[in-house]
Amino acid sequence: MSVAIIGGTGLTSLPGLEITRREVVHTPYGTPSGPITHGRYSGKEVMFLARHGYGHTIPPHRINYRANVWALKHLGVKRVIAVAAVGGITERMAPGVIAFPDQIIDYTWGRACTFFDVNLTQVTHIDFTYPYDAELRSILIEAARQAGIDHVDGGTYGATQGPRLETAAEIRRMRQDGCEVVGMTGMPEAALARELGLCYATCAVVSNWAAGVRGETVSMNEIEATLKEGMKKVQQLLTYAVPLL
Ligand code: HPA
Repeated sequence: MSVAIIGGTGLTSLPGLEITRREVVHTPYGTPSGPITHGRYSGKEVMFLARHGYGHTIPPHRINYRANVWALKHLGVKRVIAVAAVGGITERMAPGVIAFPDQIIDYTWGRACTFFDVNLTQVTHIDFTYPYDAELRSILIEAARQAGIDHVDGGTYGATQGPRLETAAEIRRMRQDGCEVVGMTGMPEAALARELGLCYATCAVVSNWAAGVRGETVSMNEIEATLKEGMKKVQQLLTYAVPLL
């Protein structure tokens, strides 16, 4: 089953991927964030796409999520591992932790969030009770265990609009809502994947305490430094996860 990895901030390329070719895909929804990179990773064929573009130039609210997901489906992808940087809201989501969320609350707005939009023969709804694929999640968790990586199984991912970070009050509200991590790209990506029948799970790298959680403002330098270390762990995790797929 073909697998794709969508890399987020801190993972605009996948070291260790033996690249065979890059493919430009045109979609009915416009252009994906970049060409899809094909290659071998841990002995398997995988595809890679940098969500923010290979030069990290596309902000979260401007990503063409529909084009990205459609392109992967078009190339025969069945499973998508989404890597994403997040802020930690609860105690167990400390910077440096790798988390595999199991729920989502969507606070984004104004994004093209569905394939079932216009020119429909029938209004279409999808079930999204459990937004992440259970089997793919358990593979990622098993890979983290095998790799000896500190991780958290579960938690609600709150998707915010960005590109600004949140206010302390917004994070307080999100905590009351039950969110444990906060990021800007989890939606509509996860829902679009479900609409096209792709198995999708997120590997979230906690890069900072979310706004107000530790009383200080959020430092971009801290985010960058923590992400650098976190993405090394993700790469290691992926070398264990890919053979399990
Ligand atoms: N908020 C939103 N998105 C993020 C954060 C955050 O604190 N850290 C990394 N991505």
